[in-house]
Amino acid sequence: MKYRPLGRTGWNVSEVSFGAWAIGGAWGEVSEDDALDALRTAIDSGVNFIDTADVYGDGRSERLIARLKKERKDEMIVATKAGRRLPKQTTEGYSRHNLSSWVDDSLRNLAVSTIDLLQLHCPPTDLYYHPEVFGILDDFVEAGKLRFYGVSVERVEEAIKAIEYPNVQSVQIIFNCFRQRPADVFFPLAKQRQVGILARVPLSSGMLTGKLREDSHFAADDHRNFNRHGEAFDVGETFSGVDYGLGLQAVEEIRRIVPSGITLGQFALRWILMYDAVTCAIPGGKRPEQVSENCCASDLPPLRSEAVVALKRIYEEKIKESVHQRW
Ligand SMILES: NC(=O)c1ccc[n+]([C@@H]2O[C@H](COP(=O)([O-])OP(=O)(O)OC[C@H]3O[C@@H](n4cnc5c(N)ncnc54)[C@H](OP(=O)(O)O)[C@@H]3O)[C@@H](O)[C@H]2O)c1
Repeated sequence: MKYRPLGRTGWNVSEVSFGAWAIGGAWGEVSEDDALDALRTAIDSGVNFIDTADVYGDGRSERLIARLKKERKDEMIVATKAGRRLPKQTTEGYSRHNLSSWVDDSLRNLAVSTIDLLQLHCPPTDLYYHPEVFGILDDFVEAGKLRFYGVSVERVEEAIKAIEYPNVQSVQIIFNCFRQRPADVFFPLAKQRQVGILARVPLSSGMLTGKLREDSHFAADDHRNFNRHGEAFDVGETFSGVDYGLGLQAVEEIRRIVPSGITLGQFALRWILMYDAVTCAIPGGKRPEQVSENCCASDLPPLRSEAVVALKRIYEEKIKESVHQRW
């Protein structure tokens, strides 16, 4: 596992880290044993950074991470999120009172006195035009409740606006083979300001592992079933907003350019790591085998330029039209 600096925090984090949404909820049943085994495998593979949120399984994901921290001495940095407990996303909802009570809940769930990194959880675009919200977060840092804070965004333009606030240390954004716009528009700015980038949904909700089929079955409580058209939250969070059938077609083309000896999922993760503006990819994983396969992507050599060019072509021909200008 290789490590990269996260913005100006002074932390060096594993370039393949761990996304803890699926072990919380909304991805079908994952037992506590499997979830803990997945987390343990991540730590054994060199992961030192875990991304979670207060709402993943209503605190379940945070509590599982607290259990892991109790049993392991390894240094672990945990980034959580706040904001999705609101029944409706409004800027007013991100009040001092609400933020304070969400932070206190996360402190309790994570069993810590300070949150390493708190991210605003895809707030409305308007929030980025309200500096007072960032002032509240500065106060929480001052009070010792947070070490650092950052944002998780839907849109590239939100990311660009967010990093105008000098204490935003990280931006979490969807970046993968099917979502390439952040690299053109946002990465140079983030590098200039030394802001960390967490590449989320790096496997496009599992699609980029190449294992999904037209008739793949997803449980009723898996968002790949219930949010395919954005019924519950932003459609971009499910398969990156790419139509399922179109995604499958593109994957078949990608399969042909994957070098021998590595999996399609590892190719997709290694592609993300080709961008030095990226701090880490945060793939989700429900089982130890998935996690170790994903972590191995860090040890692979850089992709050959022919493969990078071929992927760009597949993106431009198959995917770009439906996603590029939407986020
Ligand atoms: N709004 C936000 O801030 C937000 C939104 C989305 C995600 N996130 C964060 O980003 C993280 C990653 O995104 P994500 O979990 O949505 O999507 P992802 O990482 O693209 O896909 C994860 C899923 O792919 C499958 N998978 C993973 N590794 C695999 C492997 N090696 N082989 C086969 N299948 C594999 C697993 O599901 P199956 O085995 O069931 O297929 C896993 O749950 C989340 O966990 C969360 O921390 C944040």
